[in-house]
Amino acid sequence: MNSGMALTGDTVLRVENLHVWFPLRRSLTEIIKRMERRYVRAVDGVSFSLREGEILCLVGESGCGKTTTGKAVMGLVKATKGNIYFKPSPELGKLLEEQGARIEDGFVNIAKLSKRLLRMVRRELQLVYQDPYSSLNPRFTIRYILEEPLIIHRIGDEETRLKMVTKMLEAVRLTPVEDFLERYPHELSGGQRQRVAIAKAFILNPRVVVADEPVSMLDVSIRAEILELLLELKKRYNTAMIFITHDLAVARYICDRIAVMYLGKIVEMGPAIKVIEEPLHPYTRALVSAIPEPNPENRKRLREVPIKGEVPSAVNIPTGCRFRPRCVAYDEHASVRPRCEAEDPPMVEVEPERYVACWLYK
Ligand SMILES: Nc1ncnc2c1ncn2[C@@H]1O[C@H](COP(=O)(O)OP(=O)(O)OP(=O)(O)O)[C@@H](O)[C@H]1O
Ligand SMILES: [Mg+2]
Repeated sequence: MNSGMALTGDTVLRVENLHVWFPLRRSLTEIIKRMERRYVRAVDGVSFSLREGEILCLVGESGCGKTTTGKAVMGLVKATKGNIYFKPSPELGKLLEEQGARIEDGFVNIAKLSKRLLRMVRRELQLVYQDPYSSLNPRFTIRYILEEPLIIHRIGDEETRLKMVTKMLEAVRLTPVEDFLERYPHELSGGQRQRVAIAKAFILNPRVVVADEPVSMLDVSIRAEILELLLELKKRYNTAMIFITHDLAVARYICDRIAVMYLGKIVEMGPAIKVIEEPLHPYTRALVSAIPEPNPENRKRLREVPIKGEVPSAVNIPTGCRFRPRCVAYDEHASVRPRCEAEDPPMVEVEPERYVACWLYK
């Protein structure tokens, strides 16, 4: 496996060779001709690890598998292949063990847990959705929306729960709290709703929060304050986050590390600043050169790397390097071409903490 991605003391999550394939429905002709079933290879061999209190961004174009990766980590879609090692808190770990979960070095494998155990683990894995308008139940008050996870996981009596709800509303700055407790989602603005969704995600003090494009549906003017809030909560609770975005400017602002995905795989991963300022993979270079750059000098420097064509379908992933048909470097470097055609490049650590999957760097 990749070196440097080993389980260390403060690792909370380690995803190893994750695959999520969705079977396509077969047409009558395919059935008659006994053709093999085909799959949408949404996630096709993803590995990364996450440390306590760290934000890792998954970036990449629409359809590259970001959301599916996030859902697999939460146990909301089943891994076709691979492992998702998660380190629960000591209390939850003990509970899981009592219930028969297999724990190794403090980690449970989410990809192999039963539904029942998975429900227990979800208490420490939370998701913030993109759409604050559909993620909150419109029939419930804000108070109940925040209290529900506590009730489900049998935490505290009514009085304790109200205290926790109040504290959380203060933390996301929906104050004075009395003005919000008995209100319904439709009475709030988009930004306020997303604050409620964030409060709901953090109220159980999760170890990992997956935030899937949490600001992309919000008004541009309030995006920064929601990002600030996420950063603040992450610091306060030392939560690890997987932050999904297609916006590299947002990624640079909020993340410690960036993983760039292309057609179901990570093609480059490293410290956020490094990945954006010195991108290595031809795909990352193309993405970075598309960030609006006010400084003309930088613009000239970055506009060097174009990208060809459209993203191929995740059903027919190109053989060899999956980026090859769109790769400018492939055209320019005749010496590596045979390898690009023959084999998908593995992720290698080219500098400490910097990984890239490209034959140019092998
Ligand atoms: N339940 C499903 N059944 C079949 N195919 C799916 C399913 N969910 C996702 N896919 C497909 O898997 C691929 C990856 O989808 P995913 O939603 O993970 O991408 P994404 O990177 O989150 O894209 P976006 O930026 O548009 O949100 C896409 O081709 C998508 O159509
Ligand atoms: Mg998505």
